[in-house]
Amino acid sequence: DKGPYRHYMLKEIFEQPAVIAETLEGRIYKGRLLEESFGHEAKRLLDAAKGVHIIACGTSYHAGLVARYWLEEVGVPCSVEVASEFRYRQVVVPKDTLFVTISQSGETADTLAALRESKKMGYLGSLCVCNVPESSLVRESDVAVMTRAGPEIGVASTKAFTTQLVALRLLALALARRHGMDREKEKTLVEELESLPRQVEVALSLSEAIEEMANAFAEKTHALFLGRGTFYPVAMEGALKLKEISYIHAEAYPAGELKHGPLALVDADMPVICALPNDPLLEKVLSNLQEVRARGGELFLFSDERIRINLDHYHSLTLADICPSTAPIVYTIPLQLLAYHTAVLKGTDVDQPRNLAKSVTVE
Ligand code: M6R
Repeated sequence: DKGPYRHYMLKEIFEQPAVIAETLEGRIYKGRLLEESFGHEAKRLLDAAKGVHIIACGTSYHAGLVARYWLEEVGVPCSVEVASEFRYRQVVVPKDTLFVTISQSGETADTLAALRESKKMGYLGSLCVCNVPESSLVRESDVAVMTRAGPEIGVASTKAFTTQLVALRLLALALARRHGMDREKEKTLVEELESLPRQVEVALSLSEAIEEMANAFAEKTHALFLGRGTFYPVAMEGALKLKEISYIHAEAYPAGELKHGPLALVDADMPVICALPNDPLLEKVLSNLQEVRARGGELFLFSDERIRINLDHYHSLTLADICPSTAPIVYTIPLQLLAYHTAVLKGTDVDQPRNLAKSVTVE
C-alpha cells in the first residue's frame, strides 16, 4: 500500500527516519554500542579481524565504498569490490580478513556466489549486512547484521541504502573499539547516530524545493555528480538513482579527477550536482567547482548552511546541524529526491524502470 504517496519509491524515501531508528533499536544505548546485539559469533570474528573485504552489487556496493572510508579511519584495512568482478579474479586473501557482503535482498546471484566461493579461500569468516531475514545470504553467513528497512518495493533502492550505511556505522564502531576508540569518542559517535532520524527528517523537508530544482533536469540528457571522500560514493549513488529512473545519462566523478578528462564534457548544457558538507575537503571541492563554472556548467549544490560558497552562480539548498560521521547518509536524501522528482517530470515508470528487476538472481 502506497498510502498517500504517488509511488512506492517516494513512500520509501519518506520512511527513512523511521527505518533508520528501527535499525538502531537495541543496538545503541546511553552513548554505547551494544555489541552483543550482533550475536555471539560476531565477537570472535571481530576480535580476530585484521582487515575486511566487502563484496556487493549496485547500490549495496556504494554502501560498501562509503564504509571503506569509515573502516580505514579507525585503522582497519578494507577493500571493496563488485561481486561480479570478485568472482572471476585471482584473489589474494591477506591473513585474518573478514569477508563482508552487503545486499538488500540477500538473493543477488553474484553476491551469493562470491560468499560461497569465499568459504574455500581462507577468509576468517563471513558477515552480511542484509534486509531479508529468511534470505540465502543470511542463512549462509556466519554473522548477519540485519537492516530493518522493511520490504522495499521500488526497484531503485533508497531506504535499503541508508539503513545499510547505519549498520556499517555500527560495524565501524565495533571495530574502532578494538583500535583504541575511547569512551568519550564512542559517546560522540553514538550520539551522532541517534540524531540521524531527525536530520533525515530535515533533509526530507527539502522535497518541494527539490521538485522545483528538478525542472532544470527534465530536459537534460546528461548530468555529472561530483564528490570527494565519502561523498564520492554518495555521488555515485546519486548518479545511479538518476540514470535508473529518469534514464538521463549520469556519471559520478571524484571532483579531483575533473581535470583529467571529464571537464571536457562541461558546457552550459551539463548540470553538475555536488554535496558540499562542512568537511576538511571543502576548499578543494570549491576550487573544483570553480573550474566547472569557468566552463559555463550549471551548479546544483546541497550544502551545509555554515559554509560560505565563493562561486559566481549556483543553485543551492542547505542542510543544518549535520554531523561529520553520518553526513554521507543525510546528503543521500536530496539526491534520491532529485532523481525521483526528475523521473516524475519525465513521466517514466518510477517504481518499475525499464529493463531492470528488483532482485538480480541470475548472473
Ligand atoms: O539486493 P541487493 O542489494 O544485493 O541488490 C544489488 C543491486 O542489484 C541493487 O542495489 C540495484 O543496483 C538497485 N536497483 C539500485 O537502485
